[in-house]
Amino acid sequence: MEKVQLKDKEFRKFLAYEKEILPAIEKVAAQLNQDYKDKNPLFVVVLNGSFLFAADLIKRFNGACEVSFIKVKSYEGTSSTGAIKELLSIEEEIKDRYVLFVEDIVDTGNTLEYLINSVKVKNPASLKIITLLFKPEAYKKQMKVDYVGMEIENKFVVGFGLDYDGLGRNLKDIYVLN
Ligand code: IMP
Repeated sequence: MEKVQLKDKEFRKFLAYEKEILPAIEKVAAQLNQDYKDKNPLFVVVLNGSFLFAADLIKRFNGACEVSFIKVKSYEGTSSTGAIKELLSIEEEIKDRYVLFVEDIVDTGNTLEYLINSVKVKNPASLKIITLLFKPEAYKKQMKVDYVGMEIENKFVVGFGLDYDGLGRNLKDIYVLN
């Protein structure tokens, strides 16, 4: 499929799964296998958008690890503060753990800032961010995004877990607004 229609918007193919997405995931997995070997990291998958990325990434991690989930929702439009609400929290003990957040996309960085601040106070051994996609032009924060699959232009994308108004998460490839 070269084009998809989701509600009122048309999207065109941007990143193909086999050619671009999977190699980016394999690159990040190789870095994690080096950096977290024998550290039993705790992957914290940020729902909903990261579920497909997390599945492909975590099954390529060779060592012992644990997996948890957090679900956050940002209120865009209704408030300019970028306020974030936590809908599902991490149950696991964070203290002295090597925590790796797994994000689908880092845009303004509001979500990332919230995630870091909420876990930092629990004294993890380390705290790093993994994201499949990063929009450097949209990013407004200073914090380092530690592991990046691909940098993309500041354009709205869907597919491979990412949605437009709830739709498009099931698309195997990533599409950009036409
Ligand atoms: P933030 O602006 O970095 O806090 O990004 C917040 C969230 O907005 C991300 O985790 C995504 O769920 C969503 N988001 C940002 N950019 C896009 C996009 O291009 N497509 C779909 N969702 C996006």
